[in-house]
Amino acid sequence: MAVSGIQRIDHIAIAVHDIDAALRFYRDTLGIASSVIQDVPSEGVRIAFLPLGGPAGSKIELIQPLDPTNSIGRFLDKHGEGQHHICLQVTDIDAALAELQGAGALVLDQIPRVSAEGRAVFIHPKGTNGVLIELVEVSNKR
Ligand code: CO
Repeated sequence: MAVSGIQRIDHIAIAVHDIDAALRFYRDTLGIASSVIQDVPSEGVRIAFLPLGGPAGSKIELIQPLDPTNSIGRFLDKHGEGQHHICLQVTDIDAALAELQGAGALVLDQIPRVSAEGRAVFIHPKGTNGVLIELVEVSNKR
């Protein structure tokens, strides 16, 4: 059974050491205004969203670890800066999670986690041809 209710690419996330330094390219050189720059203490990260294409568009998300030992910090240690995940918006995260589990997908969350935008689950790159994938039910559009 396939996952129902996948709507659009919500964001593409890039892990960075320093958001202020990264904004000099993504905001100042590319000219994409940031809509949000905030700490997400529950995830141990600082994020910036740079939206493109209006309400139906998507965003670039810059992620900086606040703690070098968390998963983003370890990602940077291992891979350096670069693409971290792709996020797809779904209409119902609980239904999507149940469908993923039913299909035997390598979900990393057994209950949705609270993200900056709503509730989300991640799927391990081993099950997705090498890309960490986030599904989010947006309740707080940024
Ligand atoms: Co994300």
